[in-house]
Amino acid sequence: MGDQHAELDWRDQAIPVSTRFDDPYFSLENGLAETRHVFLAGNDLPARFAPGFHIAELGFGTGLNLLTAWMAWEQAGHTVPLTFTSFEAFPMTADEMARALAAFPEVARYADRLVTAWKEDKTLATLKGINACVILGDARETLAAESFAADAWFLDGFSPAKNPELWDASLMAQVSAHTTSSGTAATYTAAGFVRRNLADAGFSVARVPGFGRKRHMTTCFKAPA
Ligand SMILES: C[S@@+](CC[C@H](N)C(=O)[O-])C[C@H]1O[C@@H](n2cnc3c(N)ncnc32)[C@H](O)[C@@H]1O
Repeated sequence: MGDQHAELDWRDQAIPVSTRFDDPYFSLENGLAETRHVFLAGNDLPARFAPGFHIAELGFGTGLNLLTAWMAWEQAGHTVPLTFTSFEAFPMTADEMARALAAFPEVARYADRLVTAWKEDKTLATLKGINACVILGDARETLAAESFAADAWFLDGFSPAKNPELWDASLMAQVSAHTTSSGTAATYTAAGFVRRNLADAGFSVARVPGFGRKRHMTTCFKAPA
Protein backbone atom coordinates (compact mmCIF):
# COMPACT_ATOMS: atom_id res chain seq x y z
CA MET A 1 0.00 0.00 0.00
CA GLY A 2 3.01 2.30 0.47
CA ASP A 3 2.95 3.32 -3.19
CA GLN A 4 -0.65 4.57 -3.20
CA HIS A 5 -1.16 8.30 -3.39
CA ALA A 6 -3.89 10.85 -2.73
CA GLU A 7 -6.50 11.48 -5.42
CA LEU A 8 -7.65 15.07 -5.21
CA ASP A 9 -10.12 17.61 -6.45
CA TRP A 10 -9.95 21.24 -5.35
CA ARG A 11 -12.94 23.13 -4.00
CA ASP A 12 -12.82 26.91 -4.51
CA GLN A 13 -9.32 26.32 -5.93
CA ALA A 14 -8.03 25.99 -2.37
CA ILE A 15 -9.50 23.13 -0.35
CA PRO A 16 -8.34 19.60 -1.21
CA VAL A 17 -11.12 17.05 -1.45
CA SER A 18 -10.33 13.34 -1.66
CA THR A 19 -12.07 11.77 -4.63
CA ARG A 20 -11.24 8.31 -3.21
CA PHE A 21 -13.18 9.07 0.00
CA ASP A 22 -15.43 11.87 -1.32
CA ASP A 23 -14.55 14.08 1.65
CA PRO A 24 -12.57 17.31 2.24
CA TYR A 25 -9.29 17.22 4.19
CA PHE A 26 -10.37 19.94 6.57
CA SER A 27 -13.34 22.09 7.51
CA LEU A 28 -14.68 24.20 4.72
CA GLU A 29 -15.19 26.97 7.27
CA ASN A 30 -11.73 27.33 8.80
CA GLY A 31 -9.27 24.46 9.01
CA LEU A 32 -6.87 26.07 11.46
CA ALA A 33 -9.55 27.08 13.94
CA GLU A 34 -11.06 23.60 13.68
CA THR A 35 -7.71 21.97 14.43
CA ARG A 36 -7.26 24.20 17.46
CA HIS A 37 -10.75 23.46 18.76
CA VAL A 38 -10.89 19.75 18.09
CA PHE A 39 -7.38 18.46 18.46
CA LEU A 40 -5.60 20.97 20.71
CA ALA A 41 -8.40 21.97 23.10
CA GLY A 42 -9.90 18.47 22.78
CA ASN A 43 -6.68 17.06 24.27
CA ASP A 44 -6.35 19.91 26.79
CA LEU A 45 -3.41 21.41 24.88
CA PRO A 46 -1.28 23.44 25.18
CA ALA A 47 -1.90 23.17 28.96
CA ARG A 48 -0.63 19.55 29.11
CA PHE A 49 2.47 20.16 27.01
CA ALA A 50 5.60 19.08 28.87
CA PRO A 51 9.11 18.08 27.75
CA GLY A 52 8.99 14.75 25.92
CA PHE A 53 5.31 15.16 25.01
CA HIS A 54 4.25 12.81 22.21
CA ILE A 55 1.30 13.41 19.87
CA ALA A 56 0.17 10.67 17.50
CA GLU A 57 -2.27 11.04 14.65
CA LEU A 58 -4.32 8.84 12.33
CA GLY A 59 -4.40 10.56 8.92
CA PHE A 60 -1.52 12.94 8.16
CA GLY A 61 -3.16 14.47 5.07
CA THR A 62 -1.87 17.99 4.42
CA GLY A 63 0.13 18.14 7.66
CA LEU A 64 -2.02 21.03 8.95
CA ASN A 65 -2.49 19.39 12.35
CA LEU A 66 1.24 18.89 12.72
CA LEU A 67 1.91 22.55 11.87
CA THR A 68 -0.74 23.78 14.29
CA ALA A 69 0.61 21.64 17.13
CA TRP A 70 4.22 22.60 16.33
CA MET A 71 3.37 26.32 16.43
CA ALA A 72 1.41 25.95 19.70
CA TRP A 73 4.35 24.03 21.20
CA GLU A 74 6.83 26.78 20.34
CA GLN A 75 4.44 29.52 21.42
CA ALA A 76 4.14 27.75 24.78
CA GLY A 77 7.89 28.33 25.14
CA HIS A 78 9.15 24.77 24.73
CA THR A 79 12.64 24.44 23.32
CA VAL A 80 13.06 20.66 23.40
CA PRO A 81 11.28 19.41 20.26
CA LEU A 82 7.75 18.04 20.31
CA THR A 83 7.39 14.42 19.17
CA PHE A 84 4.70 13.85 16.52
CA THR A 85 4.01 10.47 14.88
CA SER A 86 1.40 10.27 12.14
CA PHE A 87 0.00 7.53 9.90
CA GLU A 88 -0.87 7.98 6.23
CA ALA A 89 -1.85 5.48 3.54
CA PHE A 90 -2.34 7.86 0.60
CA PRO A 91 0.28 10.64 0.77
CA MET A 92 -0.13 13.73 -1.38
CA THR A 93 2.71 15.23 -3.40
CA ALA A 94 4.75 18.14 -2.05
CA ASP A 95 3.12 20.47 -4.60
CA GLU A 96 -0.37 19.43 -3.49
CA MET A 97 0.61 19.91 0.14
CA ALA A 98 2.02 23.37 -0.58
CA ARG A 99 -1.15 24.35 -2.43
CA ALA A 100 -3.39 23.17 0.43
CA LEU A 101 -1.31 24.86 3.12
CA ALA A 102 -1.16 28.17 1.22
CA ALA A 103 -4.62 28.88 2.68
CA PHE A 104 -3.03 29.28 6.12
CA PRO A 105 -0.50 32.15 6.10
CA GLU A 106 -0.34 32.03 9.89
CA VAL A 107 1.61 28.76 9.72
CA ALA A 108 3.59 29.60 6.55
CA ARG A 109 6.95 29.59 8.34
CA TYR A 110 6.41 26.00 9.44
CA ALA A 111 4.67 24.93 6.24
CA ASP A 112 7.71 25.86 4.13
CA ARG A 113 9.91 23.66 6.26
CA LEU A 114 7.42 20.78 6.15
CA VAL A 115 7.03 20.92 2.37
CA THR A 116 10.82 21.02 1.85
CA ALA A 117 11.30 17.98 4.08
CA TRP A 118 8.33 16.16 2.47
CA LYS A 119 9.87 16.68 -0.97
CA GLU A 120 13.01 14.93 0.25
CA ASP A 121 11.44 12.12 2.24
CA LYS A 122 7.79 11.52 3.15
CA THR A 123 8.73 9.96 6.48
CA LEU A 124 9.99 13.47 7.45
CA ALA A 125 13.40 12.13 8.47
CA THR A 126 15.00 15.45 7.46
CA LEU A 127 12.59 17.84 9.22
CA LYS A 128 14.38 19.83 11.95
CA GLY A 129 12.83 21.48 15.01
CA ILE A 130 10.27 18.74 15.68
CA ASN A 131 10.68 14.97 16.12
CA ALA A 132 8.21 14.16 13.38
CA CYS A 133 7.67 10.81 11.74
CA VAL A 134 5.05 9.80 9.19
CA ILE A 135 4.51 6.07 8.94
CA LEU A 136 3.38 5.29 5.42
CA GLY A 137 0.88 2.53 4.71
CA ASP A 138 -2.47 1.37 6.04
CA ALA A 139 -2.62 2.21 9.75
CA ARG A 140 -4.47 -1.05 10.36
CA GLU A 141 -1.26 -2.82 9.41
CA THR A 142 1.42 -0.37 10.54
CA LEU A 143 0.33 0.82 14.01
CA ALA A 144 0.50 -2.60 15.66
CA ALA A 145 4.18 -2.87 14.75
CA GLU A 146 5.11 0.39 16.52
CA SER A 147 6.23 0.50 20.13
CA PHE A 148 5.56 4.11 21.26
CA ALA A 149 2.97 5.38 23.77
CA ALA A 150 1.41 8.75 22.90
CA ASP A 151 0.24 11.36 25.41
CA ALA A 152 -2.42 12.62 22.99
CA TRP A 153 -4.04 11.22 19.85
CA PHE A 154 -5.52 13.20 16.98
CA LEU A 155 -8.05 10.84 15.34
CA ASP A 156 -8.48 12.48 11.96
CA GLY A 157 -9.63 9.98 9.37
CA PHE A 158 -12.20 11.01 6.81
CA SER A 159 -15.78 10.84 8.03
CA PRO A 160 -16.56 7.49 9.70
CA ALA A 161 -19.30 6.82 7.13
CA LYS A 162 -16.82 7.17 4.25
CA ASN A 163 -13.61 5.86 5.84
CA PRO A 164 -14.89 3.31 8.42
CA GLU A 165 -11.66 1.29 8.36
CA LEU A 166 -9.81 4.13 10.12
CA TRP A 167 -12.26 3.99 13.03
CA ASP A 168 -12.78 0.27 13.48
CA ALA A 169 -12.70 -1.59 16.80
CA SER A 170 -9.34 -3.29 16.34
CA LEU A 171 -7.64 -0.05 15.27
CA MET A 172 -9.15 1.81 18.27
CA ALA A 173 -7.78 -1.01 20.47
CA GLN A 174 -4.36 -0.38 18.92
CA VAL A 175 -4.72 3.35 19.58
CA SER A 176 -5.46 2.57 23.22
CA ALA A 177 -2.51 0.18 23.42
CA HIS A 178 -0.32 3.03 22.12
CA THR A 179 -1.49 5.59 24.70
CA THR A 180 0.14 6.41 28.06
CA SER A 181 -1.83 5.67 31.24
CA SER A 182 -2.74 9.39 31.52
CA GLY A 183 -3.17 9.86 27.76
CA THR A 184 -6.07 11.35 25.82
CA ALA A 185 -7.59 11.27 22.35
CA ALA A 186 -9.87 13.62 20.45
CA THR A 187 -11.79 13.60 17.21
CA TYR A 188 -14.21 15.86 15.36
CA THR A 189 -16.79 13.09 15.04
CA ALA A 190 -19.37 11.96 17.57
CA ALA A 191 -20.48 8.94 15.53
CA GLY A 192 -21.94 6.31 17.85
CA PHE A 193 -19.83 3.39 16.62
CA VAL A 194 -16.62 5.42 17.03
CA ARG A 195 -17.52 6.31 20.62
CA ARG A 196 -18.41 2.69 21.36
CA ASN A 197 -15.16 1.43 19.84
CA LEU A 198 -13.17 3.93 21.93
CA ALA A 199 -15.03 2.95 25.11
CA ASP A 200 -14.51 -0.77 24.37
CA ALA A 201 -10.82 -0.01 23.86
CA GLY A 202 -10.55 1.32 27.43
CA PHE A 203 -11.17 5.06 27.07
CA SER A 204 -13.57 7.18 29.13
CA VAL A 205 -15.48 8.92 26.37
CA ALA A 206 -17.27 12.28 26.43
CA ARG A 207 -19.36 14.08 23.83
CA VAL A 208 -18.55 17.81 23.85
CA PRO A 209 -19.46 20.79 21.62
CA GLY A 210 -18.00 20.50 18.13
CA PHE A 211 -16.54 23.10 15.79
CA GLY A 212 -18.64 25.35 13.55
CA ARG A 213 -21.75 23.61 12.32
CA LYS A 214 -20.83 20.31 13.99
CA ARG A 215 -22.89 20.03 17.14
CA HIS A 216 -20.74 17.46 18.88
CA MET A 217 -17.26 15.97 18.86
CA THR A 218 -15.56 13.37 21.06
CA THR A 219 -12.86 13.60 23.69
CA CYS A 220 -11.56 10.72 25.76
CA PHE A 221 -9.02 9.85 28.37
CA LYS A 222 -7.50 6.58 29.42
CA ALA A 223 -9.74 5.02 32.05
CA PRO A 224 -7.87 3.42 34.98
CA ALA A 225 -7.67 -0.35 34.41
C1 LIG B 1 -9.29 14.11 7.04
S1 LIG B 1 -7.79 13.60 6.28
C2 LIG B 1 -6.52 14.08 7.43
C3 LIG B 1 -6.28 15.57 7.52
C4 LIG B 1 -4.97 15.87 8.17
N1 LIG B 1 -4.87 15.49 9.55
C5 LIG B 1 -4.52 17.30 7.95
O1 LIG B 1 -4.05 17.94 8.91
O2 LIG B 1 -4.57 17.73 6.80
C6 LIG B 1 -7.77 11.82 6.51
C7 LIG B 1 -6.49 11.15 6.10
O3 LIG B 1 -6.53 9.76 6.45
C8 LIG B 1 -5.85 9.02 5.45
N2 LIG B 1 -6.26 7.62 5.51
C9 LIG B 1 -7.45 7.08 5.13
N3 LIG B 1 -7.47 5.74 5.35
C10 LIG B 1 -6.27 5.42 5.91
C11 LIG B 1 -5.70 4.21 6.40
N4 LIG B 1 -6.37 3.06 6.33
N5 LIG B 1 -4.46 4.26 6.94
C12 LIG B 1 -3.78 5.44 7.02
N6 LIG B 1 -4.27 6.63 6.57
C13 LIG B 1 -5.50 6.62 6.02
C14 LIG B 1 -6.28 9.74 4.18
O4 LIG B 1 -5.43 9.46 3.09
C15 LIG B 1 -6.22 11.21 4.61
O5 LIG B 1 -4.96 11.79 4.37
